[in-house]
Amino acid sequence: MSGGREVGAQRALAEELARAAGAIQRDRYGSTLEIASKSASIDLVTEVDRACEAAIVETLRRERPDDAVLAEEGGGDDRPDATWRWVIDPLDGTMNFAHAYPRFCVSIAAQREGRTEVGVVYDPLLDELFAATRGAGASLNGRALRVSQEDEIGRALLATGFAYDVHESEDDNLDHFADFAKRARGLRRDGSAALDLCYVAAGRFDGYWELKLHPWDVAAGNLVVEEAGGRSTDFAGAPAAGDGRETLASNGQLHAAMLGIIRERRSRSS
Ligand code: IPD
Ligand code: CA
Ligand code: CA
Repeated sequence: MSGGREVGAQRALAEELARAAGAIQRDRYGSTLEIASKSASIDLVTEVDRACEAAIVETLRRERPDDAVLAEEGGGDDRPDATWRWVIDPLDGTMNFAHAYPRFCVSIAAQREGRTEVGVVYDPLLDELFAATRGAGASLNGRALRVSQEDEIGRALLATGFAYDVHESEDDNLDHFADFAKRARGLRRDGSAALDLCYVAAGRFDGYWELKLHPWDVAAGNLVVEEAGGRSTDFAGAPAAGDGRETLASNGQLHAAMLGIIRERRSRSS
């Protein structure tokens, strides 16, 4: 298969997988769930996270048996020699889902030789499918996406999140939260990193930052942001490495100002 056709096929498969897992979420939303904890008491996993991951991985094993799969709940196959790797968050926003708060999604990226070529994020309740193919732009339900043009922090709506070690860690993001709360028009903590990134791409948020995320939280969303004309970097301004440890995404116009605010705080606390 030619390179372009293969990318197109991966995009179609990513969309199919995201819609299938989203249908499971829609079906189980608001029902009684089995809830367990992972890395901390507030880091939850439900049977729906696992069911979504199992459905995605089962289809991938059938359709793309040679590809590697990195999936949050551990159901993937690590194949170091594979050309393609799928990076999957089967349910991003588990805490919201467990509390029947209507904001969660499926996030799926397809990477070729370490570079994300396709990113798909699906919100099943709003039936919103955010998607991007490298070099071909980003879309929401087929309509082209563009970041906002806002260039003043004082008129910006920003978003962030907190890692599951927030009860124990001193590196808890509350310092940055306070700094941005004092400067931005508004601040949201809405509980789904993948949707936060896509909302930057859609111009709903003007910027977003978070610490200690994981590859599955950011792989798809970072590409959606970049293909919508935005920027996604670490806190030093270097292109996002893909590990999610430091994530700053913006419409581009606000990037330098947001980096400056983060840096100023870090230099004061070191
Ligand atoms: C979490 C969400 C949340 C973010 C956390 C993530 P999960 O993912 O994206 O918004 O603040 O850091 O771990 O656990 O719901 O897949
Ligand atoms: Ca996640
Ligand atoms: Ca998850």
